[in-house]
Amino acid sequence: MDIIKLLKKLTIEEKIGQLLQLSPFHFIKDIEVEVFGNVKELGLTEKKIFSAGSVLGIHNAAEMIAVQEKYLRKSTHQIPLIFMADVIHGYETIFPVPLAISSSWNPKLAFDTARVSAIEASSAGIHVTFSPMADLTRDPRWGRVVEGFGEDPYLNAVFTKEMVKGYQQGDISKDENIASCVKHFAAYGAAEGGRDYNTVDVSRLSLHNYYLKGYKAAIDAGAKLIMTSFNVIDGIPATINKHLLRDVLRDLWKFEGLTITDYDSLHQVVPHGNAENDREAAQKGLIAGLDIEMASSCYINYLKMLIENNEVSIELLDEAVLRVLKLKEEIGLFENPYKGASVEKESRIIRSNKHLEISKNVALESAVLLKNDGVLPLSKNKKYALIGPYAETKNTNGPWSWHGKNELNHTLKEKLEEQGIILSLVREVNHINELSNEEQALLKKADAVIFALGENERESGEAHSKVDIKIPRNQEKFIEFAKEQNLDSIIVLYHGRPFDLSNILSTNAILDVYYLGSMANDAIADLLTGLINPSGKLTMSYPRHVGQIPIYYNYLNTGRPKVEGDRNEYVSYYLDELNTPLFPFGYGLSYSKFRYDNLVLSKNEMYFNEEITVSVDVHNESEIGGFETIELYIRDYVASISRPVKELKGFQKIWFAPHQRRTVEFKIKKDSLSYLNAEGLEILEPGRFSIMVGSSSDHLLCLDLICKKEVSL
Ligand code: GLC
Repeated sequence: MDIIKLLKKLTIEEKIGQLLQLSPFHFIKDIEVEVFGNVKELGLTEKKIFSAGSVLGIHNAAEMIAVQEKYLRKSTHQIPLIFMADVIHGYETIFPVPLAISSSWNPKLAFDTARVSAIEASSAGIHVTFSPMADLTRDPRWGRVVEGFGEDPYLNAVFTKEMVKGYQQGDISKDENIASCVKHFAAYGAAEGGRDYNTVDVSRLSLHNYYLKGYKAAIDAGAKLIMTSFNVIDGIPATINKHLLRDVLRDLWKFEGLTITDYDSLHQVVPHGNAENDREAAQKGLIAGLDIEMASSCYINYLKMLIENNEVSIELLDEAVLRVLKLKEEIGLFENPYKGASVEKESRIIRSNKHLEISKNVALESAVLLKNDGVLPLSKNKKYALIGPYAETKNTNGPWSWHGKNELNHTLKEKLEEQGIILSLVREVNHINELSNEEQALLKKADAVIFALGENERESGEAHSKVDIKIPRNQEKFIEFAKEQNLDSIIVLYHGRPFDLSNILSTNAILDVYYLGSMANDAIADLLTGLINPSGKLTMSYPRHVGQIPIYYNYLNTGRPKVEGDRNEYVSYYLDELNTPLFPFGYGLSYSKFRYDNLVLSKNEMYFNEEITVSVDVHNESEIGGFETIELYIRDYVASISRPVKELKGFQKIWFAPHQRRTVEFKIKKDSLSYLNAEGLEILEPGRFSIMVGSSSDHLLCLDLICKKEVSL
């Protein structure tokens, strides 16, 4: 298709229509009879609706085919619709939530998740997924932390890149590949107070060194679209922020793909106070470099008038429309408007055993063992009680799993019994007082009690922020009861956001399982019984108290750092809580025991144009084989800007047989030593660095390294 020629044929209304994205019901229902509210409110007519360029969400292949057919019957130039949807951690085979996937510290699992998602979603006729969510997050009060890859920019970038590669595989014209739309650009996760949609106020330095790294990694991996966020940056909504959409995205990052708003976020520029009305919002959007408008009607209702009044140029409109047509061409829609959609294939491959097996593999590596004083693995020679809101539930898919079906999942009860674990009592209760006297008597006779606890799926995700991040109060009573009865207890913790777990630490073991998706309880049973050795590690700091937030491992030292044991009170600390998290970034236990020693640098001095090697010996001192993630951190002691006390710059997840010892090596190059200035440009400054390697951000061996600028010859 010659899209330049096609563009020239389009009327101005037809061009503007290509920038409109609507939900499928607009095309299917009888506009006058069935679709009122939204259509009337948006000032949409049938003509405007059938000039739209793309669709938000679709239920299945049959619906996609019906919408595309009906649309093309009315389309003058036969320009097919693009179908976009939120395939965040699986389509019908649901994978662990992204925060859990990142806790696997195995980027290949992110690729596998995206690969299966693309195969299933494309069979339903979906061409674009609004994923990965690359928002860096430091505040568990924000419900959407569940959708991202945590607090570290390096790990966020690694996982974001793999998701994009898994969706696109370098060629979105192929049937089983879908285009990736990375989101939410930018720094949506920095909402003040952790309150969703709230103000974001971060410096350019923080933007470039922390918050933008994930989106940039997605763009560098070839993501075809990027979605603007609801929040302001520098006081200007991201959706009309010219610095973000043109200076950074186009000029600095050379991005040639599409920008798309979040749901209704162009119209929301008006309540933000940056436009008097939708007309001004439309003008600012196009000038800022915004292409597609999702679910609001500023462009479709006002761009024609703005162009005719010379308030925006037709060239800006053509630039945006050309990007939409280019994506349709790249996907192959002009050749086949029904690309990928197949009712037969959809029924054959969705939730296939192969896909479910892959989902289980991801789940097995995503859970994090936070505590274990020896009560795990479970024993087939003991009797356990299984108590709590998740004892028999199947609701393990978590937020953003629209197409998944919780009812098809397994329960923890059935999967433990399948493995021969004796459950003398199983009760899905929210409070210990719901147990009858007989049941409480049975409970007391158990050798240990497994508490399946946590928040429910509706307590995290979009628009679900909380100020209280302890586990639900009634659930604390379970732990208190076990303590009073001197009963061993094991907590299996289902959740989206990190919790303040300080009030349940009297338990003997905690297995943190997030929402692990379609095969959650299959995997949890394998982990609890020791069939599989837990290997996950946290990618967000778990606070001791919500008052510590924002709390993250890569903090700046300040001029008055708190030094443990130093009694000087004029330092940066709290009167009523420690500075450190309850469980730190990079922390996670195993049934194995790993010891680190013999940290060695190939050189203690290097020039920036050189590369050195750091090595460490890791020894599995146990009888149990298991994975261990070895983490590399770096500190730059002195620079023109204050640098964090440590930054993750590498990690390797490696299998260790019982009693196996390995020497693990990392390469240190200049890109591990540099930082970005306020314009996003790389800066290298000579000086003293620390190279640190260990099992967690707070368990590291350390050596100093002097770095020098190469001598110019
Ligand atoms: C929502 C979310 C965004 C999602 C979009 C389309 O409001 O913010 O993540 O992709 O709308 O559903």
